[in-house]
Amino acid sequence: MAVDLLLGLQWGDEGKGKIVDVLTKNYDIIARFQGGPNAGHTLEFDGIKHVLHTIPSGIFHKNAVNVVGNGVVIDPVIFKKELDALKEFKIDIKSKLLISRKAHLILPTHRLLDAASETAKGKAKIGSTLKGIGPTYMDKTGRNGMRVGDLEMDDWKEKYRALADKHEAMIDYYNVDIEYDLAELETDFFASVEELKQLTFIDSEEYLFQAQKSGKKILAEGAQGSLLDIDFGTYPFVTSSNTTAAGACTGLGVAPNQIGDVKGIFKAYTTRVGSGPFPTELFDEDGETMGRVGNEFGATTGRPRRCGWLDLVALKYAVQVNGVTQLMMMKADVLSGFESIKVCTAYNYKGEEITHLPYNIEAENVTPIYSEMKGWKEDLTKMSSAEELPEALKSYISFLEKELEVPITIVSVGPDRTQTILR
Ligand code: GDP
Ligand code: IMO
Ligand code: MG
Repeated sequence: MAVDLLLGLQWGDEGKGKIVDVLTKNYDIIARFQGGPNAGHTLEFDGIKHVLHTIPSGIFHKNAVNVVGNGVVIDPVIFKKELDALKEFKIDIKSKLLISRKAHLILPTHRLLDAASETAKGKAKIGSTLKGIGPTYMDKTGRNGMRVGDLEMDDWKEKYRALADKHEAMIDYYNVDIEYDLAELETDFFASVEELKQLTFIDSEEYLFQAQKSGKKILAEGAQGSLLDIDFGTYPFVTSSNTTAAGACTGLGVAPNQIGDVKGIFKAYTTRVGSGPFPTELFDEDGETMGRVGNEFGATTGRPRRCGWLDLVALKYAVQVNGVTQLMMMKADVLSGFESIKVCTAYNYKGEEITHLPYNIEAENVTPIYSEMKGWKEDLTKMSSAEELPEALKSYISFLEKELEVPITIVSVGPDRTQTILR
């Protein structure tokens, strides 16, 4: 039985949480494969809006088990808050949420190091969510990290102390003005670790292998988006993990030949939160309208998201790098009311027209070349079938399918679970 993937094709916040929640009824297991609490995945159903950071987005469904894979980094303090927010839903967390022993832990000092590094960078800052993601993955690849499985050992507090002491020396090295009370942060951390230890830790690669063998259906949930991938994103303005399809293999221990469908999610326009190049970014009324109508504020940090037209050069690249087999277009409703819709189909790159994503996409190198098409006025939010969609939107969808050579199987017309049109 193949493992399907669901991942973001832009700079994150495409609506992954919503679609995982919609698709969970078809799966036995939902498994997060990378990232950490830098993610904010929003789900809306029955009048409730819920934001998940580390916990997979299948958690509200009784039929599915949720796995936090080895590729994920876990902050026990944030994890505890997520668990607290789930209490009212009476979920059997011990059997429905399983955690890989190989997942790495975010320590309080990782968060401080993130802040020190960003402060030291000044204007060149990444715009990190400051959740300690970069420093934790640095310790992972530097072979210094602490893992969930370490918490089952007697000496984990000594290991913690040695690493935290080293981090304090590193924070001093940055020589920047950040204030903190480590003793207070540690009290919170140790209390949260005790709560984490009440959960079920597993050898997730073995669990997923056996599940596959016995015919269970698995959906791997990505965080962030392809353009934030550590290798293929707009480096250095990226996150510190592989957000693309290959990250699901390393982040879960699933062999490449076991990957089935690759479901790629994109917004009908583009957003980005944090720093870094964004060729189709708008600084005008259109961009302001997208942000306002689309309520484009970060689910984790509350920062306003930068908005712009759809960038097909970047989207094609993401489809290619991930081997996307199905596309899902989100937030089509936000574009209702625009007189015309623009799509970037090529770049003017240093005077030459190109259709691939070049090494440098900074504004001084790249000017987007747009195709313009007719907009639509209809409110889509109450529509429930593909036939009802306005002709101009149907043309937009056909145009994208032709350009990307992959079918669009879902059109999302609102944040709620039910506002999802299957094609
Ligand atoms: P994720 O990180 O990919 O899970 O996405 P986020 O939750 O960070 O951001 C997506 C935002 O758009 C959330 O506030 C969702 O509730 C909302 N959303 C998802 N799909 C739609 C849609 O089709 N239309 C509208 N208007 N909002 C949507
Ligand atoms: P979801 O899963 C949007 C961005 C940050 C910053 C850069 C690096 O909700 O789509 P980091 O905290 O990883 O060091 O930040 O990546 N970023 C996201 N942007 N959605 C996310 O996750 C993001 N996670 C990180 O804004 O630019
Ligand atoms: Mg998000």
